[in-house]
Amino acid sequence: MSGPAQDDGGRVVDLAGGPHTVRDRLTRPLRDLRISVMDRCNFRCPYCMPEDKYHKDFDFLKSSERLSFEEILRLSQVFARLGVRKLRITGGEPLLRPNLGDLIGDLSRVPGIDDVALTTNGMLLAQHAAALKAAGLSRVTVSLDSLDEAVFGAMSGGRGSAERVLEGIGEAINAGLTPVKVNVVVIRGVNDHTVLDLVERFRGTGVIVRFIEYMDVGTINHWRLADAVPSRDLVNLIGARWPLRAVDRSYHGEVASRYAYEDGAGEIGFVSSVTEPFCGSCTRARLSSDGQLFTCLFASHGMDLKGPLRAGATDTELRELITGVWRQREDRYSELRAQLRGTAGKVEMYYIGG
Ligand code: GTP
Ligand code: 5AD
Ligand code: SF4
Ligand code: SF4
Repeated sequence: MSGPAQDDGGRVVDLAGGPHTVRDRLTRPLRDLRISVMDRCNFRCPYCMPEDKYHKDFDFLKSSERLSFEEILRLSQVFARLGVRKLRITGGEPLLRPNLGDLIGDLSRVPGIDDVALTTNGMLLAQHAAALKAAGLSRVTVSLDSLDEAVFGAMSGGRGSAERVLEGIGEAINAGLTPVKVNVVVIRGVNDHTVLDLVERFRGTGVIVRFIEYMDVGTINHWRLADAVPSRDLVNLIGARWPLRAVDRSYHGEVASRYAYEDGAGEIGFVSSVTEPFCGSCTRARLSSDGQLFTCLFASHGMDLKGPLRAGATDTELRELITGVWRQREDRYSELRAQLRGTAGKVEMYYIGG
């Protein structure tokens, strides 16, 4: 590629985030796109896809209902011209999507995109890591809620094992998909007693563990505020054993707050959307695997992009649709949780990818 990016009318488009950047009603630019490529998952985490609802006869999307790689690429190009710089591939479980490396290769070459990351449960990572890196993937984030196999099983719906996820993490490091991050959803009384084991296991390895406050995503997890363990409590618990100091966010809008070990053994992070919401800097849009665009993780409705795409919309038309939605955006659910909870249906986590 050479020369400045142009829109389909031939006008030069600002890729540096200047005045052409689309902003929402709270002046937040559109910077990140989270793309769910697969609504299915090989886990049945009770807080996301409980087995009793997502049983073998559950009606997941048909493959023809999911966006094709060509359609995802096309939309990503349109998003990049609106200021998106970072793509995150999610699911369900994204590694269940056949030939995912082909898509990642194409996305990594989209002008303006400088980071293509993947969030996975890690079960299929060991076998795919090297090929994903070769295709152009920058890095992976692996969900791993506990090293204790009994606790792990309770949180994955009895699927998979911590041992296999650790192998996946090892292969991701070998392949250079770094920095590898590990996401730990902390649920009171379920895995909070295993937090220090995780910290100890990854200290000094370069892997960045991030503890996530359990959120009221979707409608099926029977979330109660008391189930979330405030990050502050975990910082105190971990810091008492391995002294920590807060460090600045590495980029504007980063969801995790970062802490470094005083002894130089690396860093950990905390995603505190319950006790310290970060909606003010939220630059994320989400695309479901069937092409609905959501402007908040807690949204109840998306805007259909697949219909217009399949009906032959031009890039300009697609851009106008997206711009229109983003300009109207005023979501800040986490900041208004106390008022909004229970007022409207919410999209499910496995469908929108977290
Ligand atoms: P980095 O690019 O490495 O900073 O990744 P990330 O933290 O943006 O992505 P990841 O998929 O690892 O998300 C970490 C956790 O933060 C997950 O539990 C997400 O559901 C949650 N999260 C990500 N974005 C948002 C958001 O916009 N709002 C809320 N409330 N939670 C979010
Ligand atoms: N609260 C917080 N994080 C969650 N995740 C899934 N459900 C929830 C929830 N209710 C996490 C997954 C994954 C990330 C994308 O979101 O474990 O790491
Ligand atoms: Fe668990 Fe993630 Fe699968 Fe949901 S999408 S069931 S959180 S592994
Ligand atoms: Fe963004 Fe919605 Fe999360 Fe707030 S709650 S940070 S607006 S996705």
